Amino acid sequence: MKTGEEEILFDSLGEMKRTHNCSELTAKDVSKEVILMGWVQRRRDHGGVIFVDLRDREGITQAVFNPEFNEEIHKKAHAIRNEFVLAVRGTVVPRPEGMVNPNLKTGEIDVMASELRILNISQTLPFVLEDDTQVSENISLRYRYLDMRRPALQKNLMLRHRAAAFVRSYLNNLGFLDIETPFLTKSTPEGARDYLVPSRVNPGQFYALPQSPQIFKQLLMLAGFDKYYQIVRCFRDEDLRADRQPEFTQIDVEMSFVTEDDVMSVTEGLMASLFKEVLGIKIERPFKRLTYEEATSRFGLDKPDLRFGLELKDVSEIVGTSEFRAFAEVVKSGGLVKALNAKGCMDLSRKEIDDLTAFVAIYKAKGLAWIKVRPDSWQSPIAKFFNDGEREALGQRLDMETGDLVFFIADQSKIVNEALGHLRCHLAEKLGLIDEDQYDLVWVTQFPLVEYDEDEKRYVAVHHPFTAPLEEDIGRLTQDPLAVRSRAYDLMLNGAEIGGGSIRNHQRAVQEKVFEALDIDRDTYEKKFGFLLEGLDFGAPPHGGIALGFDRLVMLMAKQTSIRDVIAFPKTQKAACPLTGSPCEASPAQLEELSLKVRTLKE
Ligand code: AMO
Ligand code: AMP
Repeated sequence: MKTGEEEILFDSLGEMKRTHNCSELTAKDVSKEVILMGWVQRRRDHGGVIFVDLRDREGITQAVFNPEFNEEIHKKAHAIRNEFVLAVRGTVVPRPEGMVNPNLKTGEIDVMASELRILNISQTLPFVLEDDTQVSENISLRYRYLDMRRPALQKNLMLRHRAAAFVRSYLNNLGFLDIETPFLTKSTPEGARDYLVPSRVNPGQFYALPQSPQIFKQLLMLAGFDKYYQIVRCFRDEDLRADRQPEFTQIDVEMSFVTEDDVMSVTEGLMASLFKEVLGIKIERPFKRLTYEEATSRFGLDKPDLRFGLELKDVSEIVGTSEFRAFAEVVKSGGLVKALNAKGCMDLSRKEIDDLTAFVAIYKAKGLAWIKVRPDSWQSPIAKFFNDGEREALGQRLDMETGDLVFFIADQSKIVNEALGHLRCHLAEKLGLIDEDQYDLVWVTQFPLVEYDEDEKRYVAVHHPFTAPLEEDIGRLTQDPLAVRSRAYDLMLNGAEIGGGSIRNHQRAVQEKVFEALDIDRDTYEKKFGFLLEGLDFGAPPHGGIALGFDRLVMLMAKQTSIRDVIAFPKTQKAACPLTGSPCEASPAQLEELSLKVRTLKE
């Protein structure tokens, strides 16, 4: 084998055994003979002496090839290139004065090599293995096994492992049972499309991969396996985003004879211990709680980020009778006007305000009115419409002080809340109001049971159709389904939904009423979920649970912005794996066997 001028023979591992990993050796080990194995991070030739940074998943140790110490292996070391795989035997020596590297765990020592085995060579890599290199996702995922050699990804996946191990031991200690549920199953409704798997032995029939183990964990409660958990893969065919993958992992939990408080308390204990154990971070308990109503009215969104203020205030009563027609008309037609005081932001430029107006337009806001509180007057395109009384009332309600900039949106409540809610987060980021070291956990409870789906022109479940209505709202199920609150709760971490669950319907009569409120007729629900309804007839205990999005949780713990950075083999935006080349066509023989025919659609 030729590399440059030198002839290298591949060496075999033989009887060599590693004595240490690449981050273990310190000054305490000086003069020990050690054997290290790993990849070449970097080779430097310093006037005759060759230095090699040897890397494994734990860290880096510098090996030194000194001709004065051993001429033969120094000669051999000339052949070493990046990412070669080496075994190095040597003696631990202290680094010379001034060469100690305090940023490296092994920075006090070197390994003076006495034996070198080149276990494998490597071609030049398609990209540099550095954490901040910009490589297209197609390339980095195509060579994911190389990408994963990067220390950042190694750290993320090790953190993920520690988190999973901790979750298991915590729940085991509380008496939870880890029970597996099927992947080849029937559609489980979580609001996404199903991934279907054709059945060979039942031509024309399909399994659906589970969107979650929801129905099975309920059946486990019926079976008496109170306190179930599983760290489990779920499959959802939906549009991908930074925090969504077609297959992702949940910490799935279900308990019997419980109310919301019991499930929340177990979850809080788990989260607080996890953060303490894995990150050394103390999280205050109990977590804050907001009803859906309160979250959306104060923060605009049902995923409120409470690390900063900027609360929304309803000013409909004050401006609804004002001369400003855009506001008055909205209020008259049943909409509302809400405002947000960006404290101290008077100096935002016209251009910046125009950009913010374009930003809220994404959420369908028709405009973004504003008032700057200058030392002696209000500067604003709308202030002229307000009389003294209205001005005074606004000033009080919005705590307007010199230097402030107040924004207003008038529209139907859904648009106002969404647009101002997103503006609130956008401003907090722009103004640097977010403490990135803070982990803020908040429960949002009592979501509406159903919502109206404009595309499908029917009511759909906000969570899933097995969620129980609040007892006092059951009576409204038929007449006014939109007003029914549910026993569902979501857990938000820094404004991201990391988990959701609910108390379930354990009585057939209530479950049937919910199906009916969702416009699902008896034939359909019997066909789809008859087996569950039947189960409810045989002594189903009251039960409820939760599922935490494990990838999202680890992503936030690792301070990453995409769940791809905490998944070993993620998919691209188009749900593809460039490494293996999936999805791909099936062979004619496979299709034949599955009784399938593929129709090619013209563009
Ligand atoms: P839900 O659908 O809210 O609830 O899912 C629970 C959590 O899973 C995470 N999650 C995802 N993570 C990555 N990629 C995705 N495509 C994705 N979709 C969801 C979110 C979410 O909060 N069976 C119910 C739970 C229950 O009622 O007990 C369920 O699956 O963090
Ligand atoms: P106009 O009277 O349309 O020139 O609008 C005056 C100001 O009010 C502009 O800054 C608009 O962006 C703002 N505006 C108009 N309609 C709305 C609305 N529905 N909500 C909030 N601001 C609005």
